[in-house]
Amino acid sequence: MSEPLLKVENLTKHYALGLGFLKKSIPVVRAVEDVSFSVQAGETLCIVGESGCGKSTIARLLMRIVEPTSGRVLIDGTDIAGLKRKALRAWRRRMQMVFQDPYSSLNPRLTAGQIITEPVDNFERLTRSQRKSLAADLLGKVGMSAEMMHRLPSELSGGQRQRLGIARALALQPSLIIADEAVSALDVSVQAQILNLLMDLQQQMGIAFIFVSHDLSVVEHIGHRVAVMYLGRIVELAPCDALFAKPVHPYTEALIAAAPVPDPTRVRLEVPVEGEVPSPINPPSGCAFHPRCPLAVERCRLEVPLLVPMADGRVVACHVRAPASHIPAEPPTAEKRSLAPVAQPHHFS
Ligand SMILES: Nc1ncnc2c1ncn2[C@@H]1O[C@H](COP(=O)(O)OP(=O)(O)O)[C@@H](O)[C@H]1O
Ligand code: SF4
Ligand SMILES: [Mg+2]
Repeated sequence: MSEPLLKVENLTKHYALGLGFLKKSIPVVRAVEDVSFSVQAGETLCIVGESGCGKSTIARLLMRIVEPTSGRVLIDGTDIAGLKRKALRAWRRRMQMVFQDPYSSLNPRLTAGQIITEPVDNFERLTRSQRKSLAADLLGKVGMSAEMMHRLPSELSGGQRQRLGIARALALQPSLIIADEAVSALDVSVQAQILNLLMDLQQQMGIAFIFVSHDLSVVEHIGHRVAVMYLGRIVELAPCDALFAKPVHPYTEALIAAAPVPDPTRVRLEVPVEGEVPSPINPPSGCAFHPRCPLAVERCRLEVPLLVPMADGRVVACHVRAPASHIPAEPPTAEKRSLAPVAQPHHFS
């Protein structure tokens, strides 16, 4: 298999909170712990998990908005930590972000046309007519008419603003777009339109997506693979179809059970996920899910489960459902990605 577009190796981010009176007592938020995954060109990897599990921190680490405590991020095999100014700028062109709340990320004083052409203008000065035709082209790509280029963000609907945020991300023809809760603030029908738009853009332009969401039900149709996170760690990473057909990790199972079921013929699993997410400042010992897990055994309190590759191409970290005795002689990478063919996502209706 070809070199992945993006490779994340053992990424860890701890935030120290304040200075504390004694050095030893400085509390640390373990936002991301030892996370590894990769993304192929043109692929959609979804990252899901409850609020506070570290999803946005991963997005910020990938964009180099924050620096990792340890671990590496490689783009086409190059570690982004070592990039100097010019290379960093070139790499920034290739990775763009779409945010949850387009309103706060769009300059309210600029017109839609100015907002979406600004990224290109920053790299190469455009003439007035180039700017106009680029704006019309980008608006067309996200299903908006060219007349919209004269509108201010306040004169657009929530869905149109999110389309605008996507158009701005497309302006520099990125290889990868990170969408962090990009549809979470939208009505369900508008969510479906935006998800369909993202899938169409992927097919037309071959863009890879990292789609971050707390809501498993929105990732079911758009993801090729899904990484499920719990308190900073990936607990299951699987081809999307396999994950929804048969979740293996008890937490994945509970999330799927809790998600609304758009397809009434699908049998709903009856595994409740009870209790609050524990604090990442003082996470539970061993498997961090053990206080909420109906299957927990003694070992779960004592040892952090490793990600173990399963026969169908997924990796799972669970002492009961994926015992470490399954680990082959070769140490596993954090994911085993070449086994399952990537299923084509289906459009929302
Ligand atoms: N700058 C920061 N300083 C301290 N803690 C932070 C900071 N950013 C995020 N966190 C904490 O890290 C954890 C993960 O946050 P985040 O990545 O935003 O989660 P998610 O996007 O999954 O909701 C949370 O407990 C959050 O409070
Ligand atoms: S390792 Fe133990 S506590 Fe963690 S998910 Fe598996 S059974 Fe539950
Ligand atoms: Mg977040």
